Amino acid sequence: MGLHRILVADDEESMRWVLSKALRKKGYSVDLAADGNQALRQVQEQSYDLVIADIKMPGMTGLELLDKARELRPDLLVVVMTAEASMKNAVEAMKRGAYDYITKPFDLEVLDAIIEKVSRARDVSNQVAMLKQELKDRYLVEKNIIGNSASMQELYKTIGKVAGSDITVLIQGESGTGKELVARAIHLNSSRFGKPFVAINCAAIPKDLLESELFGSERGAFTGAIERKTGKFEQANHGTIFLDEIGDMPLDLQAKILRVLQEQEITRIGGSQNLAVDVRVVAATNQDLQEHVRNREFREDLYYRLNVVPINLTPLRERKEDIPALVAYFLEHTCAELEIPTKQCSPDTMQLLTTHSWPGNVRELENSIKRAVILSSDHLLSPSDFTAITNHRETFHAVPQEQSLEAIVETKLRSSMNGIEKLDKGDIYNRVLEQVERPLIRYVLEKTRGNQVRAADILGINRNTLRKKISELQIAIKKD
Ligand SMILES: Nc1ncnc2c1ncn2[C@@H]1O[C@H](COP(=O)(O)OP(=O)(O)OP(=O)(O)O)[C@@H](O)[C@H]1O
Ligand SMILES: [Mg+2]
Repeated sequence: MGLHRILVADDEESMRWVLSKALRKKGYSVDLAADGNQALRQVQEQSYDLVIADIKMPGMTGLELLDKARELRPDLLVVVMTAEASMKNAVEAMKRGAYDYITKPFDLEVLDAIIEKVSRARDVSNQVAMLKQELKDRYLVEKNIIGNSASMQELYKTIGKVAGSDITVLIQGESGTGKELVARAIHLNSSRFGKPFVAINCAAIPKDLLESELFGSERGAFTGAIERKTGKFEQANHGTIFLDEIGDMPLDLQAKILRVLQEQEITRIGGSQNLAVDVRVVAATNQDLQEHVRNREFREDLYYRLNVVPINLTPLRERKEDIPALVAYFLEHTCAELEIPTKQCSPDTMQLLTTHSWPGNVRELENSIKRAVILSSDHLLSPSDFTAITNHRETFHAVPQEQSLEAIVETKLRSSMNGIEKLDKGDIYNRVLEQVERPLIRYVLEKTRGNQVRAADILGINRNTLRKKISELQIAIKKD
């Protein structure tokens, strides 16, 4: 953060020497350029925080350098030095976007003051950027990855292993299995945290626009290119780019992506310069890329370059044990968003949700829960709130016919209660429990042929308690 790398451009050797000595002493890393053209090449290849440029230089003036350098790196700070204290130069420089100017000769104190100012400016702008990003990230971090199945645990381990390096990752999985979520998790857990995460969906953008989206374009590069546009790779500089649905990328673009991966540089459409970019690539697809490679629809070299570390996400139907936690998580989140108390699922609803095959994976589950929460007026969600699933015949059969006792009691109870407004106050709890206790005790006594000692044993209650219950609940004992 702040100010680290400085480029000094001046044709006067003594000036370069003085400046580099003073700046290095202060701990900055300093590069030198003897003219404007050389300076521009260096700006292109390195990422400087500040350029200090003399205005009068052979070949390219400092003002031209200022224009071109800022075109390449819009956020680059440039301080110009001018020998003549002419108003004109100073105004011109500021107008063109210089951060400040110094008139030569100057005391090192003047330089110190300017460096101090630049450093603060960079800190502030970095801090604002960081804070914004942090806020976004915090929101994203809250979007936890849920699930403890063996395949999810494997996934967490892999994320941990790859996050620390710049290794290219290819995430494969059916639609809705969480590919984007995982891509973000990799970014958030990497050293690039706080820097941009830029996602681009290669399938959603028309093929002839995709290239300029990715690499940017110069003004006039094609009809309609009225302005210079920075591409996603540039936007993602120092961060991570997420190439989503990479299986849909046209072959000619695949070659260009391969080049970025190998050279770490890009060229805007219509541009002649190569721009260095420092970007980590994470790609995803729900298609079988290997099959595409066999059919020559996907470049084999790119496939291997991307697939350094493969992550394959398991479909939800193959890790059903994760469903209850996901349900709880989505219930909590949806209700929090709506600012209502967290709704619950009845046991038979949970039964339904855990047995459904979820062709749309986690996304389908998430959407079903959102819909049910919004549409149901009840606190407890019942299977009828999930009609989209229950109408699905195949799943309907997949639901076991055998319901748990609790589910049956629950359904019965709810239908016989029919709204608490109508109930008498006072003793509902006992009255309801009696209705469960009575059949239970009756059943056990029947099976033990009226033997109260055995019945108490089976029920796990004291014999005296049983006797008391029998009289209270007025249970008739049938002895055959
Ligand atoms: N394990 C998980 N825990 C919590 N939420 C998840 C999980 N997996 C997916 N989700 C959620 O499900 C939704 C779909 O996930 P995501 O967009 O990452 O899927 P995808 O694989 O990229 O799908 P597609 O191929 O359709 O683009 C998102 O809202 C995501 O937050
Ligand atoms: Mg996706």
